[in-house]
Amino acid sequence: MTILVTGGAGYIGSAMVEELVAAGASVVVLDDLRRGHRAAVTDGVPLYEGRVGDKELLRSICKEHEIESCIHFAALAYVGESVTDPHLYFENNVAQGLALLDTLVMAGVRRFVFSSSCATYGEPTKIPIDEQHPQRPTNPYGSTKLIMEKILQAYTEAFGLKFVALRYFNAAGATAKIGEDHEPETHLIPNLLAVALGRKEYVSVFGDQYATPDGTAIRDYIHIADLCNAHLLALEYLRNGGASECLNLGNELGYSVMEVIATARQITGCEIEVRIEPPRPGDPSRLVADAGRARSILGWKPKYPELERIIRTAWDWHRAHPEGYEQ
Ligand SMILES: NC(=O)c1ccc[n+]([C@@H]2O[C@H](COP(=O)([O-])OP(=O)(O)OC[C@H]3O[C@@H](n4cnc5c(N)ncnc54)[C@H](O)[C@@H]3O)[C@@H](O)[C@H]2O)c1
Repeated sequence: MTILVTGGAGYIGSAMVEELVAAGASVVVLDDLRRGHRAAVTDGVPLYEGRVGDKELLRSICKEHEIESCIHFAALAYVGESVTDPHLYFENNVAQGLALLDTLVMAGVRRFVFSSSCATYGEPTKIPIDEQHPQRPTNPYGSTKLIMEKILQAYTEAFGLKFVALRYFNAAGATAKIGEDHEPETHLIPNLLAVALGRKEYVSVFGDQYATPDGTAIRDYIHIADLCNAHLLALEYLRNGGASECLNLGNELGYSVMEVIATARQITGCEIEVRIEPPRPGDPSRLVADAGRARSILGWKPKYPELERIIRTAWDWHRAHPEGYEQ
């Protein structure tokens, strides 16, 4: 009985594969390597290079490996790109996701863990954000995640599919082997570390006039190892007959962009140059999770909630891989 990890060559997916293998699970990866890295996939794990909507490929994977559940990370995840090229996002994240689901359901797979996002909430009306908060995404990326949640709910009713949609806040940090290597990189922490390593000149800070104590936006950072652990617990929950659920994953701690910069400067010992730029449209001032439901339903407890540890693990990885993955 094998777990299919889509997007398992990407940042979070490859950390998930590492954790599943360490837990003794049998794993198969499906990734088109458009944004992922072959070298990030744990040695010995079969990697199928292809799209999640390739029904023929998926049918043969299900047959050959007796897939019993799927953790679906594969998606495009740049908010700005989704605004300028919405077709790309709806085709990849929704049409491909739907084809994946159809094929899995036809093959008898009934357990599904989905990478959703706090981007499904849009501009928060209250902080911290719990799962009951209205979902009004402000960009196509967030809409694709919300549509997938709706499809999953409908498939639960129609076909008895059981899913857990995990709405991540800001994934960050690294394990000894797995780190963040995107091109282009839009996330704050890897960009700060790239400047510290002399690979970039400066980091852009988008907006310093928000209604926050230092004027910069506040986000909730969560270590990828804690994210992955929540997926393991979600699979266990589904195997034990748990009902379909949507759960937030965050540390319930908000750090401003300036606080993240100060911590990165302290850890790296480098004066990281930053430049203030206009705020990005649709970027909320604060996004902080209420993750009480994930704690109570899954028994989840983050091990690395401190920003200092999150950045230190990322720094260790970036110093060991200054040019990112080889392939
Ligand atoms: N990184 C974050 O902070 C964050 C926050 C919220 C939600 N998420 C979600 O978590 C998931 C993983 O994020 P990540 O940061 O690891 O992204 P990533 O880009 O590093 O990984 C995604 C992987 O999916 C693959 N992929 C994309 N479309 C595919 C398709 N149609 N078929 C096959 N493979 C495909 C890419 O090649 C890549 O390896 C995504 O669904 C993302 O939307 C991420």
